This record gives sequence, structure tokens and C-alpha cells, in this order.
Amino acid sequence: MDRILLGVVGLGHRGRELFKLAGNFEKVVPVAACDLNPANWTETKFLSAEPMEKQFPEVKFYTDFEKMLKESGINTLLVETGADVHAGFCAEALEHDINVLSDIPVVASLEEADMLWEAAKKSRAMFSTGANPNESRIANLLKDFYRKGFLGKPYCMEAEYIHWWMPGTANYKAMVENGDWRKLLSPIRYCTHSLGPLLGILEEDLTKVSCFGTGTHAPDEEYGNFRIDDMQCAQFQTDSGVVIRLMRNGRCRAKIGCHTYRVFGTEGYVEQMSDRGNTPSRIRYNSTRLYGARDLVEIDGCWMPYDYADNPSATGHGGMDYAMQDHFFTALLEDLPPPIPLKEGLRMTIPGIYAEISAKQGGKVLEIRYPWK
Ligand SMILES: NC(=O)c1ccc[n+]([C@@H]2O[C@H](COP(=O)([O-])OP(=O)(O)OC[C@H]3O[C@@H](n4cnc5c(N)ncnc54)[C@H](O)[C@@H]3O)[C@@H](O)[C@H]2O)c1
Repeated sequence: MDRILLGVVGLGHRGRELFKLAGNFEKVVPVAACDLNPANWTETKFLSAEPMEKQFPEVKFYTDFEKMLKESGINTLLVETGADVHAGFCAEALEHDINVLSDIPVVASLEEADMLWEAAKKSRAMFSTGANPNESRIANLLKDFYRKGFLGKPYCMEAEYIHWWMPGTANYKAMVENGDWRKLLSPIRYCTHSLGPLLGILEEDLTKVSCFGTGTHAPDEEYGNFRIDDMQCAQFQTDSGVVIRLMRNGRCRAKIGCHTYRVFGTEGYVEQMSDRGNTPSRIRYNSTRLYGARDLVEIDGCWMPYDYADNPSATGHGGMDYAMQDHFFTALLEDLPPPIPLKEGLRMTIPGIYAEISAKQGGKVLEIRYPWK
């Protein structure tokens, strides 16, 4: 492929920001954009100084997704609709042999997982998962350490994603003005940011889960009358016995954020602690196999992938968004495999679907099934 003729569906803040970022790549031509709400194209919105239509006068705007697929001539699509509605857009684009970079979670149900798996098998186009934390410094460090033997065999891991929201703030209002998936999605379903980097060093799938929820405690007058658990805690296991523990919040008062990971291996240990007040996020590790690291070593825990640290264009979630798009566009232009294939996307999404079912059944242990098994 010589040029990427790009479209986007979903113009909430995320779709707008990723479309703008993509437009900076040399061989990417922004061609079409689609949202049910034209105001996201014509009006000045969160994070933008002027409307998208002014920033992209050459781009054709649609409210009808199918019309955009049929008429616009795009060969590549960013799927940026709400977190619970991705798979249908992805499958339709793949049916038209249009390449897809889909935000996460990849699917919202087990039926969608089977459907998308089949659609991707039939398509000549590429599907890649838009899991930006897989590009993070900690994700890369874990992979490096694992490959080089510094960790040995990882046998126990932990992740926590605590996102502090305060309804009433301008940021919160902007985040929920287009849809209410943030209010309605069971927290454990938004597990890909946590599981993605950990599964990068796990050569088997998660096959069992048990999950508990706390119920709702935060006041409705602040958060609205919706009933998802304030917190959910899941434990996953692989066939060989590796355990992953994951905690996710819906509502919470903890002003910390956002991502914590810990990996215990037979030869070493790695953690990233999220920031706490004035203490910035830190990565720490030790290893029996690495000179100078028998005792705990501490480095900066920022998100910026090392390979992009000197690239001034590398922006968006500390450079991870840029790295994700750079890898995806390069794969298309140079005919390489997808950077984060559908299988990886489903490996990090499907365990959350089963975890939600387990929580609804009081923590019952469930077997996890994938479309390839
Ligand atoms: N990876 C990250 O760091 C990160 C951060 C934030 C959000 N996200 C993901 O980005 C995605 C978008 O998040 P957001 O906060 O911008 O969501 P949002 O709800 O604000 O925006 C989604 C948009 O999709 C549009 N839409 C829904 N159905 C449509 C249809 N049939 N046709 C056309 N448009 C349609 C809605 O009108 C809405 O404007 C989500 O999947 C979320 O999980 C990822």
C-alpha cells in the first residue's frame, strides 16, 4: 500500500484526537469521518481550539457509517465508538476489505468475539487492536526482561487500574457528553489496559476466572442513578497455574492514577506503581540474572516508549498513541503483520466478559473459552 486513505467512526474526544494525530503521518491522508452527532464535527469541542470541519476542510463528514464505507474510498478505518460498540463496525469494514485499527475492549460479548474472529479470517484486510498501553515503557520493559531471562518464568502478576472521576467537573462532562459507556460498563470489562502488558509475557491464555464486586456505595446525587459495582476484583488463572489478580474501579474517591502492575518471576521482579500525590509513577525491578540489579533498581515510570523518547511528534497518552499508530501505519505500508493482532485483542478482552458474568454469579469460578479453542 502506498497511501493510507483514512476514515474514522466515532468522534468523541478519543476519535477526534486520534484522527488529528494520524493526520500528521506522512503517508496518511484523512478522507472521511462519521458520527451520529454532527456537532462533533461542526462545533468546537473538548481539547480542540476549533471545530474538526475547520481543521480538516478536505474530509467528508457522514452520519451514516455504511454510506461512508461504500462511498468515501477509504482503505483504513479507526473505530472509536463507545467501549461497548466496536465489533459490528470492525466486521463491516473487514467485509469491505478495509483495514481496521479498533479501540478497546475489542468485543462486548462472546457472540461478538466469534463473529469478529470469523469476519477477520475471511477478510483480506488487516485488523489491529488499538491497545495503547501495550506500547508503554512498562510493557516493553517486561517483554525485554522476559525474552532475556531476567524474569525467569512469571508465575504471579497483579494489575490495578483506578481512574478517578468526579462528576460535575468540566473534564467529566466532556467525557460523557457523547455516550454513557463510562457510567454503564461493568468496571472489570475495561480490563485490556491492565491485561495487555501482562499477557505480552504470558505464552498461554487465561482459562479460569472468579470475580467479586463491591456493590454501589458512592452517592447517586453525585454519580447518577446507575448501578454498577464501585469496585471489582478478579483473579485469573492459566492452565499451568499462573495467577493474575486485577482490581478495577467504577466510582472511587482515591485520587491516584492510574495503572499499577507487578510481576513475580522465578528469577526476578518488576513493578510499576502509579503516581501517588507528589510521588510520580516509578518502575522498579530486581533480578538474579542482571548485573547491578540484585537489589531493587528504580527508574522513571512515565508512559513514553524508549524508542520514541527523542521524537517530538510522539504525543497522546505520553507518546503511546503515536507509537501505536506508527506501528500500525508502518505495518500497512510495508506489508508487515498486524502489530497487535485480533487474537491478542481477544486474549485481553474476553477474560473481562467472563469476569463480569462471574461477579453476577457471586464469584463462581468459570472456564474461559476463546474462538480459537
Ligand atoms: N486507549 C485509551 O487510552 C482510551 C482512552 C479513552 C477512550 N478510549 C476508547 O475510545 C473509544 C471512544 O471513547 P470516547 O470517550 O471518545 O467515547 P464517546 O462515547 O465520547 O464517543 C463515541 C462516539 O461514537 C459515536 N457513535 C456511536 N454509534 C455510532 C454510529 N452507529 N455511527 C456513528 N457514530 C457513532 C457517538 O455518537 C459518539 O460521539 C472507546 O472505545 C474507549 O474505550 C481509549
